[in-house]
Amino acid sequence: MRIAVLGCGRIGRMHAANLLRHADTSLATVYDIHEPSAQEVASAMGVAAAGAPEEVFAAADVDAVLVATATETHADYIEMAVAAGKPVLCEKPIDLDLARVNRCAETIAGSDIPVQIGFNRRFDPGHRSAREAVAKGEIGDLHQVIITSRDPEMPPRAYYEVAGGLLRDMTIHDFDLARYMLGDEPVEVLAVADRLIDPALMSELDDHDTAMIILRTADGKQCHINNSRTAAYGYDQRVELMGTRGMVVSDNRRRHELRQYSAAETEGAAPYLYFFIERYQEAFMAEIGAFVTSIKAGTPPEVGFEDGRRALILAEAAYRSIKERRAVRVEEIQ
Ligand SMILES: NC(=O)c1ccc[n+]([C@@H]2O[C@H](COP(=O)([O-])OP(=O)(O)OC[C@H]3O[C@@H](n4cnc5c(N)ncnc54)[C@H](O)[C@@H]3O)[C@@H](O)[C@H]2O)c1
Repeated sequence: MRIAVLGCGRIGRMHAANLLRHADTSLATVYDIHEPSAQEVASAMGVAAAGAPEEVFAAADVDAVLVATATETHADYIEMAVAAGKPVLCEKPIDLDLARVNRCAETIAGSDIPVQIGFNRRFDPGHRSAREAVAKGEIGDLHQVIITSRDPEMPPRAYYEVAGGLLRDMTIHDFDLARYMLGDEPVEVLAVADRLIDPALMSELDDHDTAMIILRTADGKQCHINNSRTAAYGYDQRVELMGTRGMVVSDNRRRHELRQYSAAETEGAAPYLYFFIERYQEAFMAEIGAFVTSIKAGTPPEVGFEDGRRALILAEAAYRSIKERRAVRVEEIQ
């Protein structure tokens, strides 16, 4: 399958390289509004850069499109892809504004063109095995989900200026993972968020760097998400599921599993893989595989547009909870 990449920034470059490596895909072309970025990635990957997005959507030799541009462009590009009949894998979030996401949903309603949203963590082998253990009944009835998601270090100021806030940008992954792990819709959200790492910058931008969120389903299953924009010990990505017959844990990843023992330490180990590109490498490849499979089989993507919309609704509920200092029913947002 010949897939074009829109957006040649941090994650667009990674996706372009992954499409070249993946057995089922090739890189058709790349486009970025910043032409030097597109040219750099195109020449590194051995393809020709497109001069305009319309060129990509009109090209007969482009089977599908992967959108990795700045967030504010995602909804427009999803609409353009669907109008052109090109399946689209779009990075999260769909948009920062729920009203815009709803308009996009209306625009593409009725089309059977696959739209997959880039919630890559669902495809992590450890996280997926945890969910499968629940589905097979291996831990009995699921009662609690604990998701720890902490970044290794603060991104630069310019990142925060466009990211849209901790919960819409970063926790959005965890809201999706919560729904996936719970196998059910949260109906209630209680959140606290603070400015512990860089209070001056976070106050100036009205953002947060540290958060804890609790979600409840209608039948009382609980999920706790904890986020931090920095962790001194590295990228911390763990999921714990507790049920009536046991517990499963999907743990952090290291470069290798060597353990060192001395008078000063026991079980000394290599640091965690640095960040999402390294930690979720297999997940990003599997995400592409799932996209291709759904296109070929004519089945809906495993992570579709509605999943992206639902995750944003949970983010909005959490923001209301923070602002009004109370538990918020998800239906208040819908
Ligand atoms: N799934 C994940 O774990 C993950 C990780 C990082 C980023 N993301 C998402 O991916 C997107 C890109 O993030 P990034 O870190 O690569 O950002 P980035 O700033 O490094 O790259 C964005 C690129 O988009 C280009 N761009 C902006 N407007 C455009 C337009 N109209 N048409 C074409 N290109 C345009 C910019 O020139 C830039 O090269 C964001 O939405 C972000 O939320 C997802």
